[in-house]
Amino acid sequence: MLAEGFAKLGKLTLCTDDGSVGYHGYPVNALAEDMEKGYRPDVIFCCGPEPLMKAVKRLGEANNITTYLSLEQRMGCGVGACLTCTCKVGGSNKRVCKDGPVFLSTEVYE
Ligand code: FES
Repeated sequence: MLAEGFAKLGKLTLCTDDGSVGYHGYPVNALAEDMEKGYRPDVIFCCGPEPLMKAVKRLGEANNITTYLSLEQRMGCGVGACLTCTCKVGGSNKRVCKDGPVFLSTEVYE
């Protein structure tokens, strides 16, 4: 979906679990392989399941690339009132719905 639009923005690597389209495997592995071949993104933006984001955090930080993660948390109110979505960011509690959801990788999953 939207592959043509994304391709206009820069390098595009599609990934699928079954290999039916693009890279056969996880996107973080595709990115790591591209980086081993010399590709170096200016910045990494990631959304998705927590294990993927933790892997992307490790990859980005190991290569000194600014990495942003869009956190997903269970939400109650969605406006910052209930604190259901609170997580540790930079050593303090932040509301994903109100203060995020995008945070620097260096501030989360410590
Ligand atoms: S969902 Fe209620 S504070 Fe974030």
